[in-house]
Amino acid sequence: MSDINDQYDPYFQCYNAVKSDPLYYYCGEYTTIKEISQSGIYSDNCLSGMKILDLGCGSGRTIAHLFEKGASEAVGLDLSPHMVEDAIRFLTEIGIPQDKFLIKQANCFSSAELYNALPLEQYSEHFDAITAQYLHCYAENLDKLTESFLVSNKWLKRDGVLCFTAPNPKIATEFEYFQELAETRNFFLQFKSLTHSKEQIPKEKLAFNNLETGKELFSVSTFLYQINHFREALNRGGFELISAKGLEMNPNSGLNLDDDRNILRVGEYSDGYSFKAKNNSI
Ligand SMILES: C[S@@+](CC[C@H](N)C(=O)[O-])C[C@H]1O[C@@H](n2cnc3c(N)ncnc32)[C@H](O)[C@@H]1O
Repeated sequence: MSDINDQYDPYFQCYNAVKSDPLYYYCGEYTTIKEISQSGIYSDNCLSGMKILDLGCGSGRTIAHLFEKGASEAVGLDLSPHMVEDAIRFLTEIGIPQDKFLIKQANCFSSAELYNALPLEQYSEHFDAITAQYLHCYAENLDKLTESFLVSNKWLKRDGVLCFTAPNPKIATEFEYFQELAETRNFFLQFKSLTHSKEQIPKEKLAFNNLETGKELFSVSTFLYQINHFREALNRGGFELISAKGLEMNPNSGLNLDDDRNILRVGEYSDGYSFKAKNNSI
């Protein structure tokens, strides 16, 4: 992973800017919080007392949201040391006590790194919920996904829930190219399908381009797993898929769903999906 900083440094900065856009804040996290709460309702204290692990935690914005809804403890893991640093700084700045959170660097698709970061002696059946926003699209194949799910299963309480969001694969298979967020930042995002055969797991290139010159600043490739792929990897990891649904927009966000900038939809498709799974021996 020698190129990790080359790849993630610029991504990290741009992604932080995107994450401060309320449209993002209000869909993936809103749906996830609803799904993991006991009541199934997004409300004050709906995560009261819960211990939650956020995989691919980025700059800690999701973790802050979990605390806002009453979580008692949150742990975050991310591959990028810069994301980790920023998450620690951000959570400290907003006043989350040091003993309530732990952020560590780890490759979430390597069981060795995961066990090293959160040893089973301490974290076996520890978490009420494990979340991940747009992480699994970075796994290169189903075996890597399975590896991550197997470890997550050991960390989760037996009645715990795993809930993650992922991009909608239809977007890459049916739209060769699209772009978004053009006027809001000094860069715009371009998505380009890299899939040439129906048999392949769809892959897309996500590029950040300079708004004025159009020049590509950098890009990353992501895999767009379909529901069946996730179901298979989850089963192999000891989970049962309970639901897969399009991301919902927080109705209290005050944002207009018909707004042209509504990034939740591309054409008639939902931009992303929320997956919920539980231990398959229950
Ligand atoms: C699209 S961002 C989402 C960040 C965060 N979940 C959020 O919603 O703000 C993807 C994150 O996954 C991290 N990531 C990518 N590959 C990873 C891996 N193999 N293990 C751990 N984190 C990874 C990136 O560093 C980045 O922070």
